[in-house]
Amino acid sequence: MNIETSAPGKCILFGEHAVVFGQPAVAVAIEQRIHVSISPIEGEYWKLEGGRFDSKKHPHLNMLRKQLWPKAKGAPALSIEIKGDIPRASGLGSSAALSVAAAAALRAARGRWCTQSEQGDIIWTEGYSSLIPDTDAYAPEESGQRAHLFDSSSLHLTGVEAVNADECALIGHAVEAAAQGGRASPMDASTCAHGGVVLLSDTIEEGSKYLYQRQLRMDDETRTWELHDVGTPEGAAEVYLVIGNTGVYAPTSEQVAKVAKAIQKEPERMREIETIGIIARRGIEALNKGDFDAVGRAMTENQVMLRGLGVSCPELDTLVRAAAPSSLGAKLTGAGGGGCMVALTRQPEITLEAIKAAGGTALISSFGNVGMRLEKGIEGTFWNPLT
Ligand code: MEV
Repeated sequence: MNIETSAPGKCILFGEHAVVFGQPAVAVAIEQRIHVSISPIEGEYWKLEGGRFDSKKHPHLNMLRKQLWPKAKGAPALSIEIKGDIPRASGLGSSAALSVAAAAALRAARGRWCTQSEQGDIIWTEGYSSLIPDTDAYAPEESGQRAHLFDSSSLHLTGVEAVNADECALIGHAVEAAAQGGRASPMDASTCAHGGVVLLSDTIEEGSKYLYQRQLRMDDETRTWELHDVGTPEGAAEVYLVIGNTGVYAPTSEQVAKVAKAIQKEPERMREIETIGIIARRGIEALNKGDFDAVGRAMTENQVMLRGLGVSCPELDTLVRAAAPSSLGAKLTGAGGGGCMVALTRQPEITLEAIKAAGGTALISSFGNVGMRLEKGIEGTFWNPLT
């Protein structure tokens, strides 16, 4: 008896790092996905891939466990299997995809208690949503209970009805923020949860479907992002993303901390962050018009700024140079310092070969893919927090 979910990886077209400071950015869900399968097991300890689960090695899963599967309330131990084709720690959102898919699996496995208003609207009595202000997904332990709403009319949603992309994105962001020393934008988690093309901005943008607002307290400031679903831009079926992996390991938390430190030391470098925001805005306009030549140019300009910021590296520069002649634009994607670059191209095979010839491994993705989903449910739940 198992529940299986999946979520896509992501690649950032414009705005990484600057988005942590609240500047606009765009990310695209890629074809490559993570699949998470969970099943209940006897005994006290969780298992991961057949071995004993080590919470220190898997902080993302450990936080999710505290949020959604509290042992203190009688949640049984689980066995987790993870598979997929998103390269790990390479800027393609593998940790966000894992968090989002695992959050969906745990929610499906416990269901969701709700009440129904007189008008028939469903009101959650547990869980997290951008529409529910009186719970805190960012708290280190479960805090999504709204027990005061629980009454005799409560109903228990299970399976796909219990799973919600906004919730998975919200918990995913909280988990990412904890893993990145408190500094993380909601870009990765929201793109992995909702799929397609996701736009983050400092204002509500016209021309895209508004999703929700996210806020996170960082150092002394509260950052605010407005998230949007861009939909499928016109002409997207004729372009491809070719992703080149340097194989150089560079944890996101270190790159994010490096940029924060550089700005703290020289506050005038905030201008560079703002310039990335201006380039991203130009890229967004191009995307809305379906002008992929201009989208590519904005990506290449963005790369120049990222190099200046010190988050590129020789291996990334080599792959970006190799991809340039056959693409509309190319840049690093994600936190940089290693990991992956992305090229936007109409000639994916040629770009792919050029990246490989320059020493990278490469993969092709179409533009915008389906978000988190429940692949296999069960009748009922593994555990019900109210029984
Ligand atoms: C990582 O995929 C993107 C960064 O902008 C960090 C973040 O947004 O949290 C570098």
